[in-house]
Amino acid sequence: MKPRKVTKAVFPVAGLGTRFLPATKSIPKEIMTLVDRPLIQYAIDEARAAGIKEFIFVTSRGKSALEDYFDHAPELESALRKSGKDDLLETLKDTNMDSGAIAYVRQNRPMGLGHAVWCARRLIGNEPFAVLLPDDVIAAEKACLQQMIEAYEHTGGCMVAAMEVPPEKASSYGVLDIAEDMGSIVRLKGMVEKPKPKDAPSNLAVIGRYILTPAVLSNLNRMKQGAGGEIQLTDAIADETGSSPGVFGFRFRGQRYDCGSKIGFLQATVAFGLARPDLNEEFGAYLHEMMAMQKAAQ
Ligand code: UTP
Repeated sequence: MKPRKVTKAVFPVAGLGTRFLPATKSIPKEIMTLVDRPLIQYAIDEARAAGIKEFIFVTSRGKSALEDYFDHAPELESALRKSGKDDLLETLKDTNMDSGAIAYVRQNRPMGLGHAVWCARRLIGNEPFAVLLPDDVIAAEKACLQQMIEAYEHTGGCMVAAMEVPPEKASSYGVLDIAEDMGSIVRLKGMVEKPKPKDAPSNLAVIGRYILTPAVLSNLNRMKQGAGGEIQLTDAIADETGSSPGVFGFRFRGQRYDCGSKIGFLQATVAFGLARPDLNEEFGAYLHEMMAMQKAAQ
């Protein structure tokens, strides 16, 4: 039997974003821009491309800029219309959500990603759902979540996006313990959150895209504290590895940028800037010039 269609996605955006202080003192991390679009827009576009119809945000204090971003802006729209700036009006369309398609729940305290997802349990109900972390931006020909949904239709069960990382980086990720490697899909026997390099069970790490079953929400009800004293989503998913149909990792096709870190954000800015036809030539020339100057100064 084909698993039930995934039409709901959760966007946990309640974290403190401390790696981007002082900026994140007053700006939500997800509103920071790659070229001219905030991180959250990339995640929403990916979810839309994968057929998601309901968007659930788990927010916290100080994130109201996010809610405003997805609202209509009548004064701005009428000013653009009056001055004939139809191209700009068109770009605003992507930021609008149909009435009722977007919902917000609050996480009162940042108790971890697992806790943030649990906060959305009543809106998710008893059906499979996607989770997208907006600070992971993925450039791909076919949206990463779409690739995962297609794979999930064959496997059922929980699925996490997986990426190869060098051993010394494993302690920053949840790492997959592989039972069976089937190519782009791997069946898991466990997952370890932030292991020491010598304890990492593989070189495949979880990144911020998930398809989860309601069983994970039941596991989160136990509020078990994991690595760093936080309620870890990885632990609640790993609890499902013993049940049928199990838990799967998916080697997606695409380039992931960790925009929650400064270096990842800068790399993404360069990559997305160069990918833009209207910026490529001038920006590319500038980067060449900078590199040449840096070399000459060495
Ligand atoms: P991070 O681990 O990147 O934490 O969270 P953070 O608070 O956003 O950033 P730093 O590490 O302090 O710089 C990964 C994702 O989980 C969400 C975050 O908003 C981010 O999308 N999250 C994390 C929550 O929603 N609630 C939490 O309690 C923790």
